[in-house]
Order: sequence, then structure tokens, then C-alpha cells
Amino acid sequence: MIYNIACMDILLLQKDAQKKIDGCASLNDLEQLHTAYLGKNGEINKLLQTIKDLSLDDKKTAGKQINELKQTLTRFLSEKKVSLTEKQSNETKFDVTLPGTPFPRGTLHPITIAISEISAIFEKIGFIRMSYPEIDYEYFAFEALNMPSTHAARDDFETTFLSTPENKTYGRMVLTPHTSNGQVREMLRVKNPPIRMINIGKCYRPNWDPTHTPMFHQFEGLCVDKDITIAHLKGTLDYFVKEYFGKDTMIRLRPHHFQFTEPSFEVDITCTVCKGTAVVNGNKCKICKSGWLELGGTGMTHPNVLKAGHIDPKIYSGWAFGFGIERVIMMKYGIDDIRNYYSGDVRFLNLF
Ligand code: FA5
Repeated sequence: MIYNIACMDILLLQKDAQKKIDGCASLNDLEQLHTAYLGKNGEINKLLQTIKDLSLDDKKTAGKQINELKQTLTRFLSEKKVSLTEKQSNETKFDVTLPGTPFPRGTLHPITIAISEISAIFEKIGFIRMSYPEIDYEYFAFEALNMPSTHAARDDFETTFLSTPENKTYGRMVLTPHTSNGQVREMLRVKNPPIRMINIGKCYRPNWDPTHTPMFHQFEGLCVDKDITIAHLKGTLDYFVKEYFGKDTMIRLRPHHFQFTEPSFEVDITCTVCKGTAVVNGNKCKICKSGWLELGGTGMTHPNVLKAGHIDPKIYSGWAFGFGIERVIMMKYGIDDIRNYYSGDVRFLNLF
């Protein structure tokens, strides 16, 4: 009777174990089943305990059957282990022939690219790159540049004044509306010419339209030495536009007025789209309409500015220019709205 119970137990256990092993989905679960059946306190050992009171013959038979069950379960478990291991390695197999995952590549901002290109062009002809304050005293932004306190540019509508305490010598502080504030600062720093400086910085004016932003960048060239003439100015500008816009670009100077240069000019370059012909496919060029595009202001340094920089205008002469960086990039690539630079739109930034 007891022997029969043991026989039933063996059969039931085998059936149950086989079902569980078949349904096992991971190597971890299989390991737990192994312990549950074949471990020290597992089901097989428990069965062996139950036959200790059988007669010798029954004990022998039941012992043999339990042993066979143990071998069967061991086989089931190891077969399942092989199939699960194979399945797992198929799942994690790495196909080296598959194309890699594309990572989006960032780019430098077009203004940053232009700053390093412009610096490199002027470094080649011996100009040093300087950075002067973008918040400065009105003395350096206006007064030292021969711009009296009545000048229109010094109006609250044109320039942002800060509410910091006024300095007795240098006046109020402003967000610099141009990089020309670096001119006299550079003269005072160098003391004895020659000076060949390129000052690149941020400027601020209260404008917002397709060609003007409240914050923009300028690069300012300043050259002071003995016997400096307009010929040097024209030669330098011609060199710059050919390097930056292309060898076939030409310049022209138009008379203009700035307080800090005399004579003063606006510099134009031949249009980068119609190459100065004013015609594209038989129609008037839509970008320039005339064959020329305006680059920025320039001129021969006013004697009063040299004096403010403690330089004797009877011995030395010089020239300066100031161009917008956003503007030169727009001219080079035919960009029609300056606000693109600050839109944060990656479709625009990816063009560079
Ligand atoms: C000046 O700022 C003079 N300081 C330039 C100069 C320097 C003349 C040295 C003589 C000697 P102007 O105001 O024209 O000049 O500005 C020069 C350039 O700055 C413009 O041609 C334009 O490209 C750029 N600019 C001016 N205002 C803005 C603005 N709000 N947004 C973007 N670019 C601007």
C-alpha cells in the first residue's frame, strides 16, 4: 500500500516537473526549478525520505524508480538549459554588417564660424585680435570718438544707458552700440604705433527688423602708423573681400559721414549673386538691384580721435572700418532675414 503511494507520487512528480520545465522561459527560472527538484531539500530527496519504512524489496524497487526519475529530470533540465541558452544568444547576437545608428551632428553657430574665418584673414596680414568691453563708458563709445553729447546716436532712443553710477571722467555706462569703442582703448594700450587691430564683439541697438537685431556683432579694423593713406585702406579692404567673398569680388568707396573718420566712406562690394552685373537670367537682380551691396562704414581716423588716444596726428595717421558680422554672412550666402541667426531653428543652423 505504501509502496503504491510512492509509485503514484513518482509519476505525479515527473508529470508536474516536466510541465514546469517545458514552460520555463529563462535560465534564472530554470535554476530555481533545478534546486526545487534536485537540490538538498528538493522533491527527489523528500521522496527518498518517504520510502524508508517500506519492506526491503519495495524499498529497492521504489529506490530504483526514484533514481530513474532523478536521471529523467536531470536530462529534462539540461536539455532545457541548452535550448534557453541558444535562444538567449540568438536574441543578443550582434550583426556587424548592419548600418550604425546615426547620431545627429552638431555644428558651430554661423557667427562663431565667421568670427574665426575673419580673424584668420586679418591675422595673415599682421592684425592682432582684441576684445574690448561690450559694456563701456560713454567716453570710449562716443566722446573719445569726436561725438559730442548732442550727437543723435547718444539719444536714449538709439543707445541703451545703464543705471549704474556715473563716472566723473568717463560718464555713464552704455551697452556699446559699435565696436569703435575699442579704437581709443587700443591706442592707449599700445601707446606707440604701429597699431594693427581687429576688434570683434557684440553690439546693442534698439532695432528689430529683417536686417537689424537688438544684439549683433561687428568687427572693427584699426591701423595707425606713419604715412598711412587711403591706398592702404583700399588695399586692405580689397584683400579682405577677396579672401572672404571670393577672388572676383570688387569694392567701391562711397562718400559718407562719421564723426570719428575724415574723410568717411561706405564700402560696397559687387553682389555675390549677380557678380556686379545687376542682372540674373535676363531680369534685374532681386538681391542688390544695382550690382552692389553695402558692407559697412570706414574712413581715415579723425585727428581728434588720435589725440584722445595720446597719438600725435602730425606724426601719425590711420584708418578704421566697422562691419556687421551677421551682414557679411548674409551677403556671402544670400540670407534674407537676420533674425534666422537667433531663431534657434536647427534647419537653418544645419546649413553651415
Ligand atoms: C558704425 O557702427 C561705425 N562704428 C562703423 C565705422 C567704424 C565707421 C570705423 C568708420 C570707422 P554703422 O552704424 O553703419 O557704423 O554700422 C556698421 C554695420 O553694423 C552696418 O553696416 C551693419 O552691417 C551693422 N549693424 C548696425 N546696426 C545693426 C543692427 N541693429 N543689427 C545688425 N547689424 C547692424
